[in-house]
Amino acid sequence: MISKTTTTNASIDRYGVIGYPISHSRSPQIHRLFALQTKQSLRYEPLENSPKELEAAVRDFQRMGGKGLNITVPHKTEVIKLVDKMSERASTAGAVNTLSFKSGEIYGDNTDGIGLLRDLTVNLSLSVENANILILGAGGATRGIVALLLEMRPKSLTIANRSLDKAEALAVHFSHLGPISACAFNAVPNSHPYDLIINATSAGVKGEMPSYPSGAISNATYCYDLSYGLNPTPFSVWARKAGARESIMGWGMLVEQAAESFNLWRGVRPNTAPVIKEISINA
Ligand code: ATR
Repeated sequence: MISKTTTTNASIDRYGVIGYPISHSRSPQIHRLFALQTKQSLRYEPLENSPKELEAAVRDFQRMGGKGLNITVPHKTEVIKLVDKMSERASTAGAVNTLSFKSGEIYGDNTDGIGLLRDLTVNLSLSVENANILILGAGGATRGIVALLLEMRPKSLTIANRSLDKAEALAVHFSHLGPISACAFNAVPNSHPYDLIINATSAGVKGEMPSYPSGAISNATYCYDLSYGLNPTPFSVWARKAGARESIMGWGMLVEQAAESFNLWRGVRPNTAPVIKEISINA
């Protein structure tokens, strides 16, 4: 007997973002704007799945003919076990934020690092070469950005984390790429201010306000917050009050990492400037 192959709405390519929770995600809006701008016909939906549901959700999406998924908190590390092939930058980061489904295989990539780098260097015209950089937090967000920051040859990169062992593990993992060290969150040296402080903790998103290291900041310090759940974030409020040269919200990185994923999937690079403007104005 001959049976018919069925696909759901085969005419339109499906994409999405999986996270837990997901309601705060701006990715669906960003990808819709990219699709409109580049005249691509696609659907992009938010998918809320717990860590327990992750594998089934990804496999279902693939089975239904889905073309690609973004992976967000808290799944960026766990999803690696579902991936058949991984890009070098994702392997180095040990975290995946983009899946592409091709010929029955799952390809994993990480566009977070390049997203941050493009925002810092292209959109904000900042050079991190020779800079002293402090990253707060040692989770998946930090993993995604360390390698690319070290490639830009900073003078030093310090990871400060509440659990010192996680910061130390990352410093060891990336030590072959450049001058990296670790310290406890409450033991950041206050003898010299940093040129750039990046908040990669999830404290603000959870409504928590840790005591950020006051000795780390001067009026020459740029502060960059990777989280964007609240506007303004506790970190950005602290940075402004502490007299930072500039307190930057991570909208640019969010849009740039999305543009890199979009380019991987569609082979078209959207113009990010109008999308960053729209997203940050409507934050
Ligand atoms: P993500 O993938 O967004 O990085 P994560 O892997 O859960 O999320 O990591 C969250 C980071 O924020 C961790 O570095 C965490 O510190 P611990 O490793 O000690 O848990 C940090 N973090 C969360 N809440 C914090 C708080 N209130 N103060 C300081 N650091 C906090």
